[in-house]
Amino acid sequence: MNETTLQKLKLPLKALFTGYLLAIGLGLLMAGAQIMLTHGMADGKFGLSVDDIIYSYHGNHDGPNASKLESKLFGSMKDNAPPEVRMALLKWADAGAPASEWENNIKPKIVEYCGPCHANMPGLANITDKAVMDQMTKRDEGQSIATLTRVSHIHLFGISFIFFMVGWIFSYATGFSIWLKSLLIFTPFAFLIVDVASWWLTKLNPNFAWLVIIGGFGYSLASTVMIFSSLYQMWIMKSPR
Ligand code: HEC
Repeated sequence: MNETTLQKLKLPLKALFTGYLLAIGLGLLMAGAQIMLTHGMADGKFGLSVDDIIYSYHGNHDGPNASKLESKLFGSMKDNAPPEVRMALLKWADAGAPASEWENNIKPKIVEYCGPCHANMPGLANITDKAVMDQMTKRDEGQSIATLTRVSHIHLFGISFIFFMVGWIFSYATGFSIWLKSLLIFTPFAFLIVDVASWWLTKLNPNFAWLVIIGGFGYSLASTVMIFSSLYQMWIMKSPR
């Protein structure tokens, strides 16, 4: 069998592949950690949940285009409500502040947590009044689409390049059936597309947050298998001789 395999590579190529895989592996870990730290705590609880995803992707919350209510709930008003209440208010603002939820769900929370100041201190916006609150929940949707477009294409270009290299190295691995190997190589690309699509779909319908989680999990798993088996075959596996 003369076919190139990871085991039989010359030392310089092994060094190149190994360096790349180690750096990428570390990068993926960091990316995971960053997701946990930035999105994972979005609902005030540790760990990535569906709420975190909804809230992180379903619109632009703390950027320059966020509504006033959202940016204040990220800024000076952050500690004025417990995390669950803050989350409920953010979700409501994010859904476009639907009037149907105001009376029974949102208003009581505002009265309880925000009212002591906002309904009593002269000069402060009285946000227990729906008309005043409407002013606080306006936002520019067009801009967040522009942001999402930008982030999507950077993500697609950048990450496919990573998977291309990882997949290419792994294509020299042995011991996997041709189907399993092809599947592992293809999976990250498929999930990458699902992942980016789900950011957009989550914007339309929060239930698509599950797709973000499945997508992220899918490509982490496939790249972990590829990285570890490539490293193993280059350095540890004994030649079948
Ligand atoms: C301890 C008093 C206090 C509480 C409680 C409080 N706020 Fe405020 N809020 C202020 C003050 C003071 C300002 C003005 C200074 C600033 O913007 O940080 C303000 C400003 C705001 C603004 C901007 C108003 C404008 O006209 O620009 C929003 C929106 C807001 N608060 C939302 C809330 C929400 C929502 C809650 C309840 C979760 C809340 N606040 C609870 C004191 C309070």
